[in-house]
Amino acid sequence: GTPVDYQAEDATIVNGVVESNHAGFTGSGFVNYDNVVGSSVEWTVNAAAAGTANVVFRFANGTTANRPMDISVNGTVVSPGVSFPGTGAWTTWVTKTVTVQLTAGVNKIKAVATTANGGPNVDKITA
Ligand code: GCU
Ligand code: CA
Repeated sequence: GTPVDYQAEDATIVNGVVESNHAGFTGSGFVNYDNVVGSSVEWTVNAAAAGTANVVFRFANGTTANRPMDISVNGTVVSPGVSFPGTGAWTTWVTKTVTVQLTAGVNKIKAVATTANGGPNVDKITA
């Protein structure tokens, strides 16, 4: 169906904080992942029907180091170590698309940082 925006600041955040000090985000802010392994954001996404879906992560990474994250759907890691490379500045937001399988109805999509740098700053997903 038509993609819907799901803001990171409205999601379930573990070891991260909502901030708004780097321009260019949508909604009311973005999530600044704590710079630790395991910091995470989990979104609740509704799918009209079961099947393949593109999940578009909008993020910024003002460092030169990749900040990989494991992407899980409904508790299972489906895309380990997805790269979220440097974007040049914390105000430079770009997208990364991950293709997943969703079930009809409610799905939990979680992005967990896998390195001590934590995740990138994440604005939203679109799915
Ligand atoms: C800076 C930046 C944060 C970012 C952090 C990081 O502190 O202002 O938005 O999350 O670096 O390196 O993770
Ligand atoms: Ca951070």
